[in-house]
Amino acid sequence: MTPRTYEVVLYGASGFTGRQTAAYFAAHAPWGLRWAIAGRDRGRLEAVRRLLPAGHAVDVLVADGADQPAIDAMVASTRVLLSTAGPFAVYGNGVVEACVRLRTDYVDITGETAWVRGLIDRHHVTAARDGTRIVPFSGFDSVPSDLGTLLVVRELQRRHGVTCQESRAYFRMFGGLNGGTVATAIQWQESGISARMRDPFLLNPPGSWSAAVAERSREVEGLHFDADLGAWVGPGLMALTDTRVVRRSAALFAEWGEPYGPAFVYQEYAKSERPFARAKAVAMATALGALNGALARPWSRRLLRPLFPAPGRGPSERSMNRGWFRSEHLAIGPAGQRVLGTIFHRGDPSNRATVRFVCESALCLALERESLPGGPGRGGVLTPATALGMVLARRLQNAGVEISV
Ligand SMILES: NC(=O)c1ccc[n+]([C@@H]2O[C@H](COP(=O)([O-])OP(=O)(O)OC[C@H]3O[C@@H](n4cnc5c(N)ncnc54)[C@H](OP(=O)(O)O)[C@@H]3O)[C@@H](O)[C@H]2O)c1
Repeated sequence: MTPRTYEVVLYGASGFTGRQTAAYFAAHAPWGLRWAIAGRDRGRLEAVRRLLPAGHAVDVLVADGADQPAIDAMVASTRVLLSTAGPFAVYGNGVVEACVRLRTDYVDITGETAWVRGLIDRHHVTAARDGTRIVPFSGFDSVPSDLGTLLVVRELQRRHGVTCQESRAYFRMFGGLNGGTVATAIQWQESGISARMRDPFLLNPPGSWSAAVAERSREVEGLHFDADLGAWVGPGLMALTDTRVVRRSAALFAEWGEPYGPAFVYQEYAKSERPFARAKAVAMATALGALNGALARPWSRRLLRPLFPAPGRGPSERSMNRGWFRSEHLAIGPAGQRVLGTIFHRGDPSNRATVRFVCESALCLALERESLPGGPGRGGVLTPATALGMVLARRLQNAGVEISV
């Protein structure tokens, strides 16, 4: 590989999450790591740089998502490109195409499964051949789901010597909403891709699931009492993204001869706690259904828009500090063997957790590439579990995320 000026470039650094990635790098990147901030507007980027603590005289790179020569120059200057510039279907194509062509590892915080399907179709083979790691979904969707599943499935295999039949994740969370996330959800609706996202195996390689697995992978609907947890559960808030990512991980591991299990199934739920657990579950499922319904119609989208933050805005510092999430992960073996794990993070899921996850993912690629799963030659359009695996889990634990199995 030719020498690069930077180890990591943070693209989209003037956005709401982008500004937080710059602050995270200033606070947590090891001394001496060469990193820069990048985006479409020099003035806004200079303002971000001025807010960094003294001693962080990072470079500023300017590249609009539509200016391919500028994108190429930015991508060629770094070993790892971390992007928070979304909607990714709008600003991300040229960035990923350049990363694949110039063999630069890539990590982002997208939850846009239909966009990533296009990346897989266009770039997986080349990136796999060249050993370039393209790692979307490295924010709150879908690091906890993907890593949590990896941890409990591998522990089930290690402890009981059996394959995994089924894994489930149960989420509880408290947090705010970013303007960029709202803009992305609206873009899904307006571009007509939301129907495509209903495919449970949207991200899988063709033919990597059986009819029996498809039957057990139907979208979760309604509420039920889960005897394993002793709690009421309903459809997971991010299940439409997370389930597709975990299923892709399982399919890639199977291709590489490291399967979770021959008929592995993954589902994701929102969990409600006592008191009034059932009533809370009903309220959550109703609110989620109403929001999805409202976003699906142009007139109700127009009515709702002013109620949500604009792009570039998000929750207050106080609110982000009060946020949290806890995910519980269950792996089940053929004779009912069970392994349970939990992940707990203090701080807003969409911001504090997302920023920690994506920055530590970029640091895995920049600092620990030799130790990553599959060795340095593994590449492709991957997932957090298949690209970063236990190395990311360990970094997150060291960074204060509570992980137990
Ligand atoms: N996975 C997760 O849990 C998670 C959490 C949070 C956000 N997200 C996703 O991350 C994305 C960003 O969210 P956010 O809240 O940070 O949004 P945001 O504040 O609106 O930031 C959007 C970023 O895109 C940049 N941008 C706009 N037009 C561009 C162009 N033509 N070329 C290049 N860059 C351009 C903006 O630059 P300017 O600053 O110059 O406007 C800004 O840096 C969204 O897609 C959101 O859904 C995911």
